[in-house]
Amino acid sequence: MPGIVLIGAQWGDEGKGKATDLIGTKVDYVARFNGGNNAGHTVVVGDESYALHLLPSGIISPTATPVIGNGVVVDPEVLLEEIDGLESRGVDCSRLLLSESAHIIAPYHRVLDKVTERFLGKHKIGTTGRGIGPAYADKINRVGIRVHDLFNAEHLHDKVEASLHQKNQMLVKLYNRRPIDVDQTTDELLKLGERLKPYVANTSLVLNKALDEGKTVLFEGGQATMLDVDHGTYPFVTSSNPTAGGACTGTGVGPTKITRVIGVSKAYVTRVGEGPFPTELFGEDGEWLRAQGHEYGVTTGRPRRCGWFDAVVNRYASQVNGLTDIVLTKLDVLTGLKEIPICVAYSVNGERHDDMPTDQAEFAAAKPIYETMPGWTEDISQVHAFEDLPQTCQDYVKRLEELSGCRISVIGTGPQRDHIIQINSLID
Ligand code: GDP
Ligand code: IMO
Ligand code: MG
Repeated sequence: MPGIVLIGAQWGDEGKGKATDLIGTKVDYVARFNGGNNAGHTVVVGDESYALHLLPSGIISPTATPVIGNGVVVDPEVLLEEIDGLESRGVDCSRLLLSESAHIIAPYHRVLDKVTERFLGKHKIGTTGRGIGPAYADKINRVGIRVHDLFNAEHLHDKVEASLHQKNQMLVKLYNRRPIDVDQTTDELLKLGERLKPYVANTSLVLNKALDEGKTVLFEGGQATMLDVDHGTYPFVTSSNPTAGGACTGTGVGPTKITRVIGVSKAYVTRVGEGPFPTELFGEDGEWLRAQGHEYGVTTGRPRRCGWFDAVVNRYASQVNGLTDIVLTKLDVLTGLKEIPICVAYSVNGERHDDMPTDQAEFAAAKPIYETMPGWTEDISQVHAFEDLPQTCQDYVKRLEELSGCRISVIGTGPQRDHIIQINSLID
């Protein structure tokens, strides 16, 4: 019953799409467990590049069954558009299973996401504006709408009314916007529900049965450890649990079924949106990394903030997620640098911290303590054995492994499927 969790170990966009695709053909199910279409996961197959937002990256593998778990917030319009877009490119989406308990992102959640950010002004989070936070807030406030609610007109109308009662007051009186019509919203959601119906299933039951039968399930996280609402850089986080524990609550599978936890990390760090980022580079080095790594968001197109590898973050990710393996991506991007700094610890008000400070004021004040390694100039994109990497490149990877407290099992040397160095298998 192998249950493999794959999560982001930094601030997102580490290459989870590519890492999922790497094992996608060797697993029976790929299940998303958190987040929504704030995610943008890229899978490159030959000349084709797929940007997946809600669908698990396993959709590209013809053998795996893709699942959207109960922990995901689903914008029905976006999901249907994504399915249509992929089907028109010849990708079969008919196997998709959508949890009947997943919460819905309604149009009013998108509106609220944008107006709330505007009202926060200088305190804004820099969200993706997709309605993620407001949809999770409704879930926790117990006024959310779930997938199965879309199939009962009377029931749905009642729920939309309950949810909009307070929101319309806020929209009109506080945000100076027009109220949202309950009947129209209900009708729109009912129509979308009709189209989603064929995919809807009791996914917790399906996944548990599969695991009991010895099948392999890959749990694909959206976002990342440092964006986790409990363990990340709160309040500059998303509204879900992208850490490994979220795989259980977000799919209805018990922790005893999880056999492996893979963390995906870039060989440097990027972040989109607001919030502290100790190793961020503002000058030429930051520009260079952004250009070399094509660091622009898959979902919003925003330029990503770039910085050196932060080993404090990776040690923390190893601990919080119980990592068994790391997939280290984008090592090729560092080719050409004379020297590569690695952040090994922080200095906070003159005091050394080897571990992540829990006080966000301390984290915001953290200055990186760097150790510098020599770089390499050779093209590594065609290298397939670790021993064939330039010695300085091998030393860099070994040092990251030592500092991260978890073995590095796969190295990414380019965006394509075959741009990898496999050190340990990810599924045995
Ligand atoms: P995700 O959100 O974690 O799935 O990551 P994104 O897809 O948002 O961003 C990762 C980007 O890096 C994508 O454009 C990938 O095609 C690309 N990528 C992934 N692995 C590698 C790698 O090893 N080298 C290079 N150069 N690009 C990579
Ligand atoms: P993937 O899965 C990078 C960031 C946003 C913002 C914060 C909150 O592709 O790695 P939200 O819209 O979730 O309320 O925004 O989280 N964010 C991401 N950053 N990659 C992502 O997903 C992200 N999803 C959300 O930029 O700072
Ligand atoms: Mg992404």
